[in-house]
Amino acid sequence: MDQKVSGGKDPLVLFMPSGRRGRFKKGTHVLEAARQLGVYVESVCGGRGICGRCQIEVQEGNFAKHGITSANSHISAFGAKEKRYADKRDLKDGRRLSCSATIEGDLVVDVPQDVQVNAQIVRKAADTRLIARNPAIQMCYVEVEGPDMHKPLGDLDRLKQALERDWGFSDIIVDQHVLPQVQSILRAGKWTVTAAIHKDMETARPSLIALYPGLKNEAYGIACDIGSTTIAMHLSSLLSGLTIASAGTSNPQIRFGEDLMSRVSYVMMNPDGCEAMTKAVHIALNGLIEEVCAESGVDPTDILDAVFVGNPIMHHLFLGIDPTELGGAPFALAVSGAVHSWASDLSLALNDGTRVYMLPCIAGHVGADAAAATLSEGPHRQDEMMLLVDVGTNAEIVLGNKKRVVAASSPTGPAFEGAEISCGQRAAPGAIERVRIDPETLEPRVRIIGVDAWSDEPAFAAMAEKSGVTGVCGSGIIEVIAEMYLAGIITEDGVVNGALAERSPRIIQDGRTFSYVLWEGDTRLTITQNDVRAIQLAKAALYAGIKLLMDKQGIDHVDRIGFAGAFGSFIDPKYAMVLGLIPDCRLDKVKAVGNAAGTGARMALLNRDYRREIEQTVTEIEKIETALEPKFQEHFVDAMALPNKIDPFPMLAEEVKLPEKAEPAIVTEGAGGGRRRRESRRRRD
Ligand code: FES
Repeated sequence: MDQKVSGGKDPLVLFMPSGRRGRFKKGTHVLEAARQLGVYVESVCGGRGICGRCQIEVQEGNFAKHGITSANSHISAFGAKEKRYADKRDLKDGRRLSCSATIEGDLVVDVPQDVQVNAQIVRKAADTRLIARNPAIQMCYVEVEGPDMHKPLGDLDRLKQALERDWGFSDIIVDQHVLPQVQSILRAGKWTVTAAIHKDMETARPSLIALYPGLKNEAYGIACDIGSTTIAMHLSSLLSGLTIASAGTSNPQIRFGEDLMSRVSYVMMNPDGCEAMTKAVHIALNGLIEEVCAESGVDPTDILDAVFVGNPIMHHLFLGIDPTELGGAPFALAVSGAVHSWASDLSLALNDGTRVYMLPCIAGHVGADAAAATLSEGPHRQDEMMLLVDVGTNAEIVLGNKKRVVAASSPTGPAFEGAEISCGQRAAPGAIERVRIDPETLEPRVRIIGVDAWSDEPAFAAMAEKSGVTGVCGSGIIEVIAEMYLAGIITEDGVVNGALAERSPRIIQDGRTFSYVLWEGDTRLTITQNDVRAIQLAKAALYAGIKLLMDKQGIDHVDRIGFAGAFGSFIDPKYAMVLGLIPDCRLDKVKAVGNAAGTGARMALLNRDYRREIEQTVTEIEKIETALEPKFQEHFVDAMALPNKIDPFPMLAEEVKLPEKAEPAIVTEGAGGGRRRRESRRRRD
């Protein structure tokens, strides 16, 4: 964005990474230029040179594309304020205080996103994506006039005057809990205080939510993804944007019901069920707050903003809303738009003034977590057609580009998480997570969680002794079934080929069907015909949902695929595609996007512009109700085959040698083991 602030001969200043630029008179403070251009540069002290938050760096060189030659000589020499700050605090080489430095020539100015003035441990394990900041909370240091008998204006009123004079905040609403503290805090700070001002929307009146004596040069926020299985929380500095602690725990609501629908049933059958589950999640959240605060040394009352995301049922239960309506058609949300609330109303042990923001839900089955993942991965900002999938017991699917975004959910059930699988287990040490099967001998080799060797390597036995080989986790199940297909152990219709029992002792008869012995040790782990069926049903449900969305978009392939969630982080895209879990796509364009919902929540925490972006985007996303779509069943039946009965996978075939397709007349085993002949479908590939 260009802005001509003054005459053509004045120095040209370009701010990075925003790319905003404008001309300013020599002697203009860099901070002032940033403000005029709408570039977010933090400032707590209001330009007094004491908070150190307004740091910038000059990029030297000839930036031909922008017509700017930028040099350190084009900015004023180190001023008194900067010297004083650098003497007392650490000011890295090359950094300048933008409230002190003035423009003296053409400049390219970098606004670093990681200005840290306190010695905090920065957690690298969390998503370290730097997020441009424009938080809803602003820390405002002011010097307030002392009381004067001749001007009988109250202490709070003079504080408000100072906030308007120095920060431009007028018509401030003061939180009730702040009122009784105003006089003592002003005196403790010797008439200097830092006010925490909350202003989420441009049009909203600012609120004074907390008050501190003297300079309070830090404020924090939490971003939290409430999943039905796990809850993940990140603690971030609102002033540097850095994530300084993260913690996770399992969702205690599991004791009321493993999956979402059983939790809704619990509410329907128990008069105090909703209250009990709301309380359980609040207790877990307070535990996580304690944990992130202990890890970082942060006082919980310094956490002033909190963003939560979750699927619709988690969203409602967190807010204390009965989710019964979400248990059946038309899956009515009590509230679909963004929710603004108070942490104290949600029993969270934070500051009395801490605000809560919840992202909007997309639909009755596609929640604020999917909205957050959309915000994080940005299909709506791209030209490419992107598929975003969060695989859980209910997969949330978003497909689109900047022209159009559609979303749906698919009832995949818990098979991908290891439930319904005879040897399935949750991801934990000892669980098989990787599988390779030799197509000649049909002998498998596996890797288990916690052991850095394949089972056919000499080191494996000793390394695996402690945990043992205990079961197969979600990613292992995907791999073993895909490898069984590639090795010819199962047909494209998922039937375990009993004829191979002559060739390998690993194919064993199991009643009227056959099983594959994946592991023979203290425990025998077999993949049964019913296990294969359970995965086929789950993947067919997911693929059918995706296919419906592709139909809506009028496309036969996608350009990119993002796999969100923990499951997506461990799954090998190649095997997911061999199985036909996801549509054909270039393998290098299929990526795990980690906890995208958590990243989206952090974006909304650190930058209120992202809140407005997702609120608007959600109104534009077209919601597809899979249960009401007549073609869902047809797509589902086609998707039962590996990878698919009718859809070709040419891009996958370039990288993986897929088995020859069988002749169209097929004999299949029913899920219950009974034989039935299905009329052959005309192959269209
Ligand atoms: Fe505080 Fe510059 S604004 S040091």
